[in-house]
Amino acid sequence: MSKILAIESSCDETAVAITDDGKLLANVVSSQVPVHEKYGGVMPEIASRLHCENIAVCLEEALSQANVKYEDLDAIAVTRGPGLIGCLHVGLQAAKTLAMIYHKPLIPVHHLAGHIYANEYAGEFRFPLLCVVVSGGNTELVLMKDHLDFEIIGETKDDAVGECYDKVARVLGMPYPGGLPIDRAAKLGEHTYDLPTPWAHKDSYDFSYSGLKTSVINLVNTLKMKGEEIRINDMARSFQDVAIGMILDKATKAAEEYDVKQVVLAGGVSANSYLREQMQKRLANTGIDLIIPPLWCTTDNGAMIAKVAERLYEEKVFAPLTLGADPNWKISDFRKFD
Ligand code: KG4
Repeated sequence: MSKILAIESSCDETAVAITDDGKLLANVVSSQVPVHEKYGGVMPEIASRLHCENIAVCLEEALSQANVKYEDLDAIAVTRGPGLIGCLHVGLQAAKTLAMIYHKPLIPVHHLAGHIYANEYAGEFRFPLLCVVVSGGNTELVLMKDHLDFEIIGETKDDAVGECYDKVARVLGMPYPGGLPIDRAAKLGEHTYDLPTPWAHKDSYDFSYSGLKTSVINLVNTLKMKGEEIRINDMARSFQDVAIGMILDKATKAAEEYDVKQVVLAGGVSANSYLREQMQKRLANTGIDLIIPPLWCTTDNGAMIAKVAERLYEEKVFAPLTLGADPNWKISDFRKFD
């Protein structure tokens, strides 16, 4: 039995959730997207300032929704990394302050573990399991042989897939974040532009997105210079086929090689309709289950942090109040936070 308050502030969402023995009592998310939209991407300094302004309000709102007092809680959980350092610090300081004042254990949670465990709101995990972690800051294939057992079997060597979507959207004149506008435009287009499949496609589970991003930017700029028409929907479709195709190929190959029982999608890009549809198709008749997170759980939130925290609470994975944030924390090191 555990009542946990979980804080997430790693990027542009200030979020607080409260769970009671696995039941979600409150899940408050304050998104900064409308502010960062103007700049075409997240402005780290503004993001941390807004977390400072919003964190207390989110905490109060979560307590009120859950009808819970700080004294009733069993633990305070917080995203310790990866993420933007200034943003992580705000959530961490809030969590440490609460843990200190109310004498509660402090649980440090890995952001990507949160994205993975968001899937527990949609179904029960069966191991071995392959997690396809695709977000604005990360692109990883993670093998789990059991709960809280994370092994990275492939990762991006440069840009993350979500970052690539956002940059391509910007050059095509679409708003930030660019994932959804590209996803929508791609449905209306044809794959008519020839874009290179990155080197990493061939023989490993690693990814590479910077070459694909540069190719789209160069192609768009060349077409503009020549005064030729840019067929936005076709460009979006051509880009998406390559960007998501790489994930589909590697994930299905890894699922077979590691003989997994389940594949789970995680992170912001798991909202992508083509990825969801195609992964379902590829895994049909393979005997491998697919869990797709509900859309509300693909963006950053506290509920996903609370899910991991419940398991860490059972194992008494608690941090001292000297805990610092780690913007580059590896998921395989999630128990190391000295
Ligand atoms: O998980 P998230 O908030 O990022 C990190 O925590 O790092 O994911 C945000 C990313 C953005 O890059 C956004 O463009 C992308 O997820 N995204 C999508 C879609 N919806 C959001 N990418 C592709 N297709 C979508 N439908």
